[in-house]
Amino acid sequence: MKNVIIIGTGGHAKVIADIVLCAGDRLVGFLTSDRDKKEFLGYPVLGQEADYCKFPDCSFIIAIGDNRARERIAGAMPGADWYTAIHPSAVISRLGVRIGEGSAIMANAVVNPCAQIGAHCIINSSAVVEHDNVTGDFSHISVGAKLAGTVSVGKRCLIGVGSCVREKVCITGGCVIGAGAAVVDDITEPGVYVGVPARKMK
Ligand SMILES: CC(C)(COP(=O)(O)OP(=O)(O)OC[C@H]1O[C@@H](n2cnc3c(N)ncnc32)[C@H](O)[C@@H]1OP(=O)(O)O)[C@@H](O)C(=O)NCCC(=O)NCCS
Repeated sequence: MKNVIIIGTGGHAKVIADIVLCAGDRLVGFLTSDRDKKEFLGYPVLGQEADYCKFPDCSFIIAIGDNRARERIAGAMPGADWYTAIHPSAVISRLGVRIGEGSAIMANAVVNPCAQIGAHCIINSSAVVEHDNVTGDFSHISVGAKLAGTVSVGKRCLIGVGSCVREKVCITGGCVIGAGAAVVDDITEPGVYVGVPARKMK
């Protein structure tokens, strides 16, 4: 059983807290930059992010949806022991899957053989990451998004709610794919892409 401290006290932190408990680990409390918060979900707020070194026996997970914020905070916590949150209902292949430190795999997500998920990623509820995908660090595959086989998603991408990405497509780092979009060709320029088929937003 791990002792877990969650960074963040927003909506995403609630879902991560639930996973920690479902996984049978011990939720010690939260760290947040909100100095006024003393308690969250009935657990103590133990301080700010910089206080992590006061808890050498704990593992940490950054439960903040914003990809850049997760990257910044991870960079400010050298030596932290990162917790990887996996909901018991997630289906994760036993064949060649790698999940980076600090990532979260949420309820009913599917991660199929040989998928490589980076560090501090979010594979949200009911998302599908098919075989041989590569998902860059600090990416977020949102609720119900579907990545077909051999898709590559660069660092810090947000793949929006209910969107889908055709097989073998590469999406460069820093992209936002809008809710409900269908990506059918490679995306080589960072930007916001929406629609079916997905086009860059003006
Ligand atoms: C694409 C997105 C980033 C654009 O956000 P935004 O810049 O705030 O855009 P706005 O809401 O101001 O909308 C601007 C225009 O784009 C359209 N638009 C917004 N999102 C769209 C989408 N996903 N697909 C198609 N059109 C979209 C709006 O209808 C609006 O059109 P109009 O100018 O003709 O009225 C956002 O709508 C989105 O889809 N984000 C993903 C959300 C998500 O999945 N979050 C993860 C939660 S788990």
